[in-house]
Amino acid sequence: MHLGLFLLAAGHHAGGWRYPGAESGTENFGLITRMARVAEAAKFDMVFFGDRLVTSAEAHPSMITRPDPLVVLAMLAVQTQHIGLVATASTTYSEPYALARAFASVDLLSQGRAGWNIVTTVQDGSVNFSRQRHPESTERYAIAEEFVEVVQGLWRSWDPEPYVKDPAAGVYMDTRKLHILNHAGPYFQVQGPLNVTRSLQGAPVLVQAGSSGPGQQLGARHAEVIFTAQQDLEEARAFCQGLKQQVAAAGRDPAQVKVMPGLMPIVGATAAQARDKLARLQAYTDQSKAHYLLSAELDHDLSGADLDAPVPDLPVDGGGFSRRKLLLGLARTQKLTLRQLYHQVASSRGHQVVAGTAEQIADHMQHWVEAGAADGFNIMPAYFPAGLEDFTREVVPILQARGQFRRDYAGRTLREHLGLALPAL
Ligand SMILES: Cc1cc2nc3c(=O)[nH]c(=O)nc-3n(C[C@H](O)[C@H](O)[C@H](O)COP(=O)(O)O)c2cc1C
Repeated sequence: MHLGLFLLAAGHHAGGWRYPGAESGTENFGLITRMARVAEAAKFDMVFFGDRLVTSAEAHPSMITRPDPLVVLAMLAVQTQHIGLVATASTTYSEPYALARAFASVDLLSQGRAGWNIVTTVQDGSVNFSRQRHPESTERYAIAEEFVEVVQGLWRSWDPEPYVKDPAAGVYMDTRKLHILNHAGPYFQVQGPLNVTRSLQGAPVLVQAGSSGPGQQLGARHAEVIFTAQQDLEEARAFCQGLKQQVAAAGRDPAQVKVMPGLMPIVGATAAQARDKLARLQAYTDQSKAHYLLSAELDHDLSGADLDAPVPDLPVDGGGFSRRKLLLGLARTQKLTLRQLYHQVASSRGHQVVAGTAEQIADHMQHWVEAGAADGFNIMPAYFPAGLEDFTREVVPILQARGQFRRDYAGRTLREHLGLALPAL
């Protein structure tokens, strides 16, 4: 299986930073470096940094402040040797040339360890980017499709090894290996070429995290890693297998796409102790943030709503709603009030929480992979450092002993860790 560390440095649980012994700070590069190195020492495939382009004082403690994840990747490339470096960037509020160049630069200078998590940005970012309006989801995905094609085209600007550096002949580069893109489309006009050559892995790995219909279609056409939020084994298996069928229908090899649901492990010496830990974290949840965090994850303004009332019905069809659909599904099956749903959102934003002994957590992960519901997991520690160190110290060795996870890196690049082929020239 494949493992990613989803690094939100004040913890994924909204109360995690208050847990005894917790260290936090999305701007604490010392902590970020140490946690990335803990994941690297445990042979994780990648460390992942999410991003949102709008913040507020009411936001989740790990999201109020957030340095540009691409800058963090570049700095971590110097502090680590093997682990993949993945960051989110928006196709709605970025320029293809600038984004292609930034990820290609991290990829080249990190010896082939970069990955881009493609998001269309659900939150209204127009307020920060001088736009008249925030495109609705169908348009965001249409923009994303062209955006990704342009970026991949720019990453093919140079064939491998274009440097000649023959002083006698006066030839510095083999410009026959240079290709002009000349893209002209409904949203972007990009001539190229890119002024960054290819890394050891040919091009950054493409990750995508949308689970709606349009989200899955974009992922099936382009992504090599799919992040998703899943709670139920059967639904997760249907999502994973359904996604791979779409990959095959798009003419791609399903084995070249890795589906990695998020997972928050709460490790205890006993199952009861793990449940106590989770209950303690829940007690640290700040109720005053309920309206904001619920509105953010449900993408619907709930300010002033009665938290002890049942969760309201909201439309779920179309793009941008997969998280809403998952959370409303939970509320329906468990008959939750808004406050009870808030506790789910505050803990893991709809991703699965597995509280138990190390053996039980390893069993759960192995079962999901063997059932075809996942190729690996995006690990979401509730708090740092212990929320991660408990997992790497106790669960990873069990997975390694069972032959479920690598004991050492076999390759140097993120593609090699993930078992992905080099991109076509
Ligand atoms: C593991 C994971 C990580 C995500 N990271 C981000 C992120 O960093 N920034 C963001 O705007 N959306 C992020 N998303 C949200 C998705 O990109 C997408 O916007 C959301 O799933 C709604 O789109 P959909 O309905 O098309 O699936 C993430 C989703 C998942 C499952």
